[in-house]
Amino acid sequence: MSLLPILLHPDPRLKKLCVPVQSVDAETRKLADSMIETMYDAPGVGLAAPQVASDARIFVMDCTDSESDNQPLVLINPEIISVSEELNTYSEGCLSLPDLFEDVERPKQVRMSFLDIDGKQHNELFDGLWATCAQHELDHLNGVLFIDHLSRMKRSMMTKKMVKLKKELALS
Ligand code: NI
Repeated sequence: MSLLPILLHPDPRLKKLCVPVQSVDAETRKLADSMIETMYDAPGVGLAAPQVASDARIFVMDCTDSESDNQPLVLINPEIISVSEELNTYSEGCLSLPDLFEDVERPKQVRMSFLDIDGKQHNELFDGLWATCAQHELDHLNGVLFIDHLSRMKRSMMTKKMVKLKKELALS
């Protein structure tokens, strides 16, 4: 396991469509373990493969509160089966856009199918923060960021802030 560097927006690798994992093998498990470690270290509640420069359809998440024991979930080749009509709004953030938060409205519940780290098929209903996180992370696998759900003005404002931050980081 190792900590992986997290790509910051804007980066063309965050806009790519990720490819399905053909077989869940030792390499997949190594990537997932490193992603979990990187997510907890950040800290964040979710992390998708493109954020660590991989184009595999994998994301990890753990929305348990800090008081509880860690419950990391690894979702490989996730697909949305159904979403609720009821919507929910959360102030979303992203490890690829540190310290920037905006309200995003998404279905309150989402049912997803995915493979776990043993290659076993799952079909799970996520609710509340878990549902928001799962949809946010699945978006990443399709090259979509949470700012793509905002107005063009907000998106360009946040992108400008990120360009400035990346310049400062490059100079320091
Ligand atoms: Ni994100």
